[in-house]
Parts: sequence; C-alpha cells; structure tokens
Amino acid sequence: MGAAAACYTNAMTMISAEAQLEELRQRLLTDNPCPELAASATQLVFGVGSSTADIMLIGEAPGAKEDQRGEPFVGASGKFLDEMCSAAGLQRSDVYITNIVKYRPPHNRDPLPEEKVAFWPYLAKQIHIIQPRVILPLGRHSGTLFVPGLRISHDHGQPVTVNVAGRERLIIPLYHPAAALYRGDLRSTLLVDFVQAAQLARQATQE
Ligand code: URA
Repeated sequence: MGAAAACYTNAMTMISAEAQLEELRQRLLTDNPCPELAASATQLVFGVGSSTADIMLIGEAPGAKEDQRGEPFVGASGKFLDEMCSAAGLQRSDVYITNIVKYRPPHNRDPLPEEKVAFWPYLAKQIHIIQPRVILPLGRHSGTLFVPGLRISHDHGQPVTVNVAGRERLIIPLYHPAAALYRGDLRSTLLVDFVQAAQLARQATQE
C-alpha cells in the first residue's frame, strides 16, 4: 500500500488520504477550471478506488456512460479493464482509476491540449495524495503526458522512471482498453502488459 501517503499531519490533525481526495474533489468543483466542459457534461467524474492504491490507472476523459454514472471506465472499455484486473488477481477496488480530464468532452471528442493543462494540477495532486508505486497511463493522450515523445505501439508495457508530482515514479504506458475492442489482437497485449505491471507493483511493495 502507498501507506506513507495515507495521512499527513496538519495542525496536529491526521487527515486520511480519502479525506484529502474528497477535499480535492470539492476544490475542483469550486475552481471549475474548464467551465465550458462542466456546462456541457452531466457531472464531474473525479476518480474511484483505493485512496492508498499501489497502482493508479489514468485514462483520457469520461465517455457517455461515465458521464451518466459519475465514475470512470464503466462502459465497454471499463468492462475490459475489469477483465484486465481479474487477470492480474486484482479487484477494481484495489487500484485507483481516474482520467486526465474530469468532464466528458462533447460528442466524445479528444480532450484538447488546454483542457489537459487545466486539469493537470488536480491529477498531480491526486497522485501526490495516493502515492501509487506504479502509474499506468491508458492510451496515447495519457501516455504522452508522462512520457513526451511516447510511441504507444513501441513503448507499451515498458517501465520508465519519471519525476511526477515531486517524486521518481514507475510509469508503464499501456494501450487504451478501447483499442482492444476494435483491434482484437491487442487484447492479449493489454492483458500481458497489465499482469506484468501488477507484478512490478507487488515487487516494489516488497522492497
Ligand atoms: N475512456 C477513458 O479514457 N476514460 C473513461 O473513463 C472511459 C473511457
């Protein structure tokens, strides 16, 4: 568990990672860094899972189902993500799942560069609170945020150490789960990459 990050001391009060995430969620609602996106979406899709997870999965932006439910990866690609978790012997609740952009872009268009920039401080803070051992960016948008110049077809599954939110962290870029839905040959690639990433996270915990 990223337990070192579970709490911090503030004026003699221990604040749990869960409470810090809730504080951050409220701040994001108040700051409203992308008012146009917030206005066209149904609700904020902040993130879900363990606030002390060793593994953090980061997609690009919510789709229609996620926008309705307020939870990331609950549509078709989320079903495959659940399969990936069970192949690695994990429950969805063992990891933390979020997106770069926290509101659904209209008509599921790609997130714009300025939207990614606007939401980055909140994602960095989520990482800082959770302190995952391993970050798994899902797809090109998320991958290039951590590994500039990333070529997903070449670099998927390859761990790189990157300074993120003030610390060196293991980043393992993966294909986006949606890719496996329209390219069947990527299913096994994603499953193998994810199982290996989970093993690396376990090793890192034991060190
Ligand atoms: N695709 C993403 O990148 N994120 C989601 O939450 C759903 C689909």
